[in-house]
Amino acid sequence: MIDEPKETDSVENPEAPGSLWGARFDGVMAPEMVELNQSLPVDSCLWREDIRGSQAWAQALGRAGVLTQTELASVINGLEGVALRIGSEGLGRAQEEDIHSVVERMLLEEIGSLGGKLHTGRSRNDQSATGVRLFGMNACDQIREDLVNLCRALQDLAHRGMHLPMPGYTHLQQAQPIRAAQWALSHVFAFLRDIDRINSARGAAAVLPLGSGAIAGCPFPIDREALKDELGFQRVSHNSVDAVADRDWICDLLYAGAMIGVHISRLSEDLVLFSSSGFGFVRLSDGFSTGSSLMPQKRNPDVAELARGKSGRLHGNLVTLLTLLKGLPTGYNRDLQEDKEALFDTCNTLGITVPALAGGIKTAEFVPESLESAIDTQLFATDLADYLVRKGVPFRETHGVVGRLVRLAEEEGIPLNELSIEAMQNEHVAFEEDVAEVFDWERSTEVRDTIGGTSLRAIQEQLEEVSAQLSGINTAVK
Ligand code: ARG
Repeated sequence: MIDEPKETDSVENPEAPGSLWGARFDGVMAPEMVELNQSLPVDSCLWREDIRGSQAWAQALGRAGVLTQTELASVINGLEGVALRIGSEGLGRAQEEDIHSVVERMLLEEIGSLGGKLHTGRSRNDQSATGVRLFGMNACDQIREDLVNLCRALQDLAHRGMHLPMPGYTHLQQAQPIRAAQWALSHVFAFLRDIDRINSARGAAAVLPLGSGAIAGCPFPIDREALKDELGFQRVSHNSVDAVADRDWICDLLYAGAMIGVHISRLSEDLVLFSSSGFGFVRLSDGFSTGSSLMPQKRNPDVAELARGKSGRLHGNLVTLLTLLKGLPTGYNRDLQEDKEALFDTCNTLGITVPALAGGIKTAEFVPESLESAIDTQLFATDLADYLVRKGVPFRETHGVVGRLVRLAEEEGIPLNELSIEAMQNEHVAFEEDVAEVFDWERSTEVRDTIGGTSLRAIQEQLEEVSAQLSGINTAVK
């Protein structure tokens, strides 16, 4: 049983005499210091990782002859008991600094003083670095899975937009016709790059620090390669001083998270714009929209707005960590305790946001009438210039010709395709009756048939590329 702490415990901190490091101290921790010192409110979620790491460490101590086989068995069972206890009762009112200290205290409560052998050759410096990495590897797997689902949702949306036009925008001005599928796929390729970044962060996380001790390595003959395999790491750290302070992989993960934030917010911004009455290209389903308490007609694209909003903290977390690390002296420094909050927040934020956005996309629909009526004839100005190019006129010249025709149509207040053939021939003799064929979005998209273009074939190719990349991800990783 956990001793129920007295009401005054938060002030009269139990650290110092009786704590993990108390023997060297006479006095208790100053009350103003207590909260600053605390890691437990943040790292308590790492209890499974800590126990897993501790069980592997016990095995390593067994192999190194530090624990007998009988001792090893009771330490392993004791840790199992701690896991069961935390699983059913939680941490109670634990007052320790961090989860590592709680688990060690509970082990002592389970198996008595033998539990005190577990920390042989280990420091909380390599122990906490190991636990966070275990968490990080799992988190990357989850983030990857969520991103794959988001990509699949966008891929389906692309299928629904294969035969629909959409104005392509530059400077948020209508530029050239594309297929709606081309727009949906543009976001998929950004998220596929994010998946690469998550994979690479996972690789950077998968380096085992355990066995580095506090700073100088471990004085007992620990088989770190075996530890690595047991805990599912890919490599063993090469230098103990570096290993206890290396948080680069968290930066990698937070950078990947920040980029996901960029991409999420750009996609969201498109959805907000495209679902507004000014555009009306997309309709989000009821499940991902909300109404207004005042205005009965309102239908707000909340999933997209909230996702766009969440990206702010994803960027902030990266800056937090870079600032935390910059200028630290060599080896472990207590500042590093602050690494976890930013990491956890990015992982939680992504875990909430990416699936919601995927759901919003899955249930979104294109609105064909709005898309078709948005294709203004001016979108074909480049096609008109290309028409003359095909008749041998240099592009620079055709650009000027079409520019004048656009102006003329504007002056006359008519669409570009309603200019008479005589008016066109006035600007250039190469215009013929077949120029009418230019003003057709399907023709315009079909001629853009090179790799990455917006023709049906080029889009089909993109869809195949996406499918290949997505199925490669599912089988190759983990
Ligand atoms: N609580 C710290 C953390 O979670 C680990 C403690 C290392 N403490 C120390 N005094 N060296 O990051």
